[in-house]
Amino acid sequence: MNETCISIRHLSVFYGKSVALKDISLSIPGRQITAIIGPSGCGKTTLLRSINRLIESTDETRVSGEILVDGQNIMDRRLDVTALRKKIGLLAQKPSPLPMSIYDNVAYGPRIHGERDRKALDRTVQDCLQTVSLWDEVKHRLRAPASRLSVGQQQRLCLARSLAVRPEILLCDEPTSALDPVSSQTIEKKLVELKKDYTIVIVTHNIHQAIRLADYVIHLYLGELVEHGPANEVFEHPKEERTRAYINGTFLADIKFDKELDLKGTKCPYNFVYAKLALDDLAEGNILRIIVDDPTAVTELPRGMEADGYEVLNSNQLNKTDWEIVIRK
Ligand SMILES: Nc1ncnc2c1ncn2[C@@H]1O[C@H](COP(=O)(O)OP(=O)(O)OP(=O)(O)O)[C@@H](O)[C@H]1O
Ligand SMILES: [Mg+2]
Repeated sequence: MNETCISIRHLSVFYGKSVALKDISLSIPGRQITAIIGPSGCGKTTLLRSINRLIESTDETRVSGEILVDGQNIMDRRLDVTALRKKIGLLAQKPSPLPMSIYDNVAYGPRIHGERDRKALDRTVQDCLQTVSLWDEVKHRLRAPASRLSVGQQQRLCLARSLAVRPEILLCDEPTSALDPVSSQTIEKKLVELKKDYTIVIVTHNIHQAIRLADYVIHLYLGELVEHGPANEVFEHPKEERTRAYINGTFLADIKFDKELDLKGTKCPYNFVYAKLALDDLAEGNILRIIVDDPTAVTELPRGMEADGYEVLNSNQLNKTDWEIVIRK
């Protein structure tokens, strides 16, 4: 693992009375891509916004714990937050160009930080737009409003804007979720190139994207840290059942079930017997989805199926009482 760049210790975040992150401790390696994964509402954005202290701009938030960036505690009240946000850039989920020209969007940050030299600004604008592969598309209309760009172009412009202040760390909150596949690919390629110079933390809902990009993975669930570690370990041999379920569950989004069986209200071992009977009727390779609400079934049924030579593709909590178990014959 590369040298630790961000070290989070016992971080908890509350919005009013509700807790969004519970006692998170982990380290994020430098000059690597770290992906934060987990279902909606699990605290991914909250974690990202804690790292550059944007979280405190939300009313009634309470934050405790420490976040060390290159050894310095950024939670220190005396810290210069503007300098911190120059060092740690954030790329939002929805492209949000400033209501000004393409040129001014990129020049905005350097100007705020005191750059007045016209030639230097021109150079920064060109460099950054080239880095995000936007230069050729916009070089003839730098004075046009940024709002006229396509959504994919706007997202690349926002990335260029982040890069213009020469940050060391780039936080990206689902940076491709508003983009078409081609624009997403362009951004992904850029992020991989940028990691030789930057520490990148990316929030993604897309497990395929996490697999493509991540060197390191953080899995959150309901505000808790479920698992973190090198991407190949987490994806290939997750230590936690919840991680395995999340990864498989996301993959299952595209899978068609050959048969579905509602076994709610049926206890072990009868639910197991019914599931086996249903599998008997299916062809080799077919997929059966079972819904159960018996807590013992959640562990026992997959175990029994695997012992009988079936492949358990997923066991995933659907709501407070129900689980789905997906089996391939
Ligand atoms: N400003 C706020 N006030 C109150 N609760 C909030 C606020 N922002 C977030 N929350 C709550 O905190 C929890 C974590 O939210 P967060 O936005 O970090 O989740 P997320 O993992 O980024 O979700 P998504 O994948 O949907 O973007 C959620 O339950 C959310 O409703
Ligand atoms: Mg979010």
